[in-house]
Amino acid sequence: MAEAELYPVPDEWRQRARIDAEGYDKLYGRSLADPGAFWLDQAKRLDWIKRPEIAGDWSFDEADFHISWFADGKLNVAANCIDRHAKAHGDRVAIIWEPDDPAEEPRRFTYRQLLAEVCRFANVLKANGVAKGDRVTIYLPMIPEAAVAVLACARIGAIHSVVFGGFSPDALAGRIQDCDSKLVITADEGRRGGKRIALKACVDEAADRAPSLERVIVVRATGAEVAMRDGRDIWYHDAAAEASGDCPPEPMNAEDPLFILYTSGSTGKPKGVLHSSGGYLLWAACTHEWCFDYRVGEVFWCAADIGWVTGHSYILYGPLANGATTLMYEGLPNWPDASRIWQVVDRHQVSTLFTAPTVLRALMKDGDAPVHATDRSSLRLLGSVGEPINPEAWRWYHRVAGEGRCPIIDTWWQTETGGAMIAPMPGATDLKPGSATRPMPGVDPQLLDAEGQVLHGAAEGNLAIARSWPGQMRTVWGDHDRFFQTYFTTYPGKYFTGDGARRDDDGYWWITGRVDDVINVSGHRMGTAEVESALVAHPKVAEAAVVGMPHDVKGQGIYAYVTLNGGEEASDALHDELVQWVRREIGPIAKPDALQFAPGLPKTRSGKIMRRILRKIAEGDTGALGDTSTLAEPAVVDDLVANRVTLPT
Ligand code: WTA
Repeated sequence: MAEAELYPVPDEWRQRARIDAEGYDKLYGRSLADPGAFWLDQAKRLDWIKRPEIAGDWSFDEADFHISWFADGKLNVAANCIDRHAKAHGDRVAIIWEPDDPAEEPRRFTYRQLLAEVCRFANVLKANGVAKGDRVTIYLPMIPEAAVAVLACARIGAIHSVVFGGFSPDALAGRIQDCDSKLVITADEGRRGGKRIALKACVDEAADRAPSLERVIVVRATGAEVAMRDGRDIWYHDAAAEASGDCPPEPMNAEDPLFILYTSGSTGKPKGVLHSSGGYLLWAACTHEWCFDYRVGEVFWCAADIGWVTGHSYILYGPLANGATTLMYEGLPNWPDASRIWQVVDRHQVSTLFTAPTVLRALMKDGDAPVHATDRSSLRLLGSVGEPINPEAWRWYHRVAGEGRCPIIDTWWQTETGGAMIAPMPGATDLKPGSATRPMPGVDPQLLDAEGQVLHGAAEGNLAIARSWPGQMRTVWGDHDRFFQTYFTTYPGKYFTGDGARRDDDGYWWITGRVDDVINVSGHRMGTAEVESALVAHPKVAEAAVVGMPHDVKGQGIYAYVTLNGGEEASDALHDELVQWVRREIGPIAKPDALQFAPGLPKTRSGKIMRRILRKIAEGDTGALGDTSTLAEPAVVDDLVANRVTLPT
């Protein structure tokens, strides 16, 4: 059994780490026993304009629902991430940028240079009418300007909303409109794995559906010709040439919003998750240090995209707040060849690599030789995030990539939590493959059953968090009631994560996956309802139901059941058309892996789709469909089973 398999803290880590096993117990104990003193003490890591005297002030109860941290503190997030380091050690490299094409030269920005770039960008934003509290949408590839633009917003107190460059014009338009953003920052094109992505053209298309948009700042990334609309579009390099490299940071209250990040939920409409300035930054900084024990001089590489929360917290905010050297990579882990990710490690002497299980599973398929072809002796820690890591992938990561030397830091968390919640500390926590191990200080996880009873000891149930932590999201943009309804009503008085989990005899946590209608495709959250609404928007589709299916690389794949309008014929051509349709409506990450035409969907007599049955069929578990007698038309199920779609292996 996996539980029995234990990887003790290596001696080297026991000796050098900031926090050992005893240290963890003390820290964790104190964080729950005296949270006020604990967090005010932790807050000293940051550079405050006014140091807070209040820590957490919150209630998850409906009558008095509120969440705030360090409410009387004032700071500027960008100044914490840049200025204080530029002043103390301006020549230290803040960001290393590795291009898509290995034949090109990497770029390096010292903290001093980063400061000047961010100030310049901030002044360009100001010159274009952006003020404190305004929303700025960032739709950029993984180029240094993405980091600079994000930090420039933080500097002037504008709220950034980064939209992943893989989202469609429609998805982008929805996100611009929802937060009423007047300005978008984009690039002519993005590059990934040698391919070009026409970002500016997507913005042009989105603009037709986003009337709030007044200004587009375009970064020249590839030099491709793009159409510029007079009066709306400007080139960044033109504006920057006139902008000063000096811009004072805006003093912000700790509770002022730092950013919005849209994420999928169980309804069709993505939620604008809003994070605060002080609490979020402190959480990113603390967890970056606790999980990765970062030391000056090391190169930290979080191989995520800035369009996801992992990129926000562990490419930018956490590492930079801690004065780290952070690596930003434009390309794909396996392009031009399967060794690429390890070549990047060697090229920049990376100490910590933080990636997702889906990447590992894809690399495993190419065997060990591409890994062995590289040196990797600089690596000392390996991180994982985004989905449950299967023990096979964990062991491969540990044995092959890390040569048995590097602890695996499996971090469980969510866009909503701002940073890692359950994760090992390398010098403190013995590891079990597939377990996210123990809670971070301040995190009070609980297991509950369907009736809301708290489960004790070894048990399996739904995962809730019983008290607030500084990095907790503060609201859903524009819909505070939805925030409360989504997270605090399932288990009154607690934050419900939407995940299931198991706690073993040693108190280790094992995340079992989502228990709601969210699926996790390649570590990316996808609301099944979003894919369904894209499908039913097609003129030939009457009804659609989408569920997750097992997928050996992506973790979960997208399985869509589609019922056509009367008179429409199912065909291979229509199948492909619908798959492409979803891709266009939402983006490539939402493309169904399997699509089955169904004469009808299994429904209860009251008309509710029986997703449980659809999940089982998609999983191929057709022998155990359970009770189907309550279905309005039981025969529908036989047809679904007979025509089930399987993926090529
Ligand atoms: C899943 C990504 C197991 C989980 C940081 C969560 C994980 C959702 C892990 C959040 C992990 C993330 N082990 N499951 N280490 N990390 N998840 O918002 O289901 O994109 O609820 O945040 O990913 O995804 P999100």
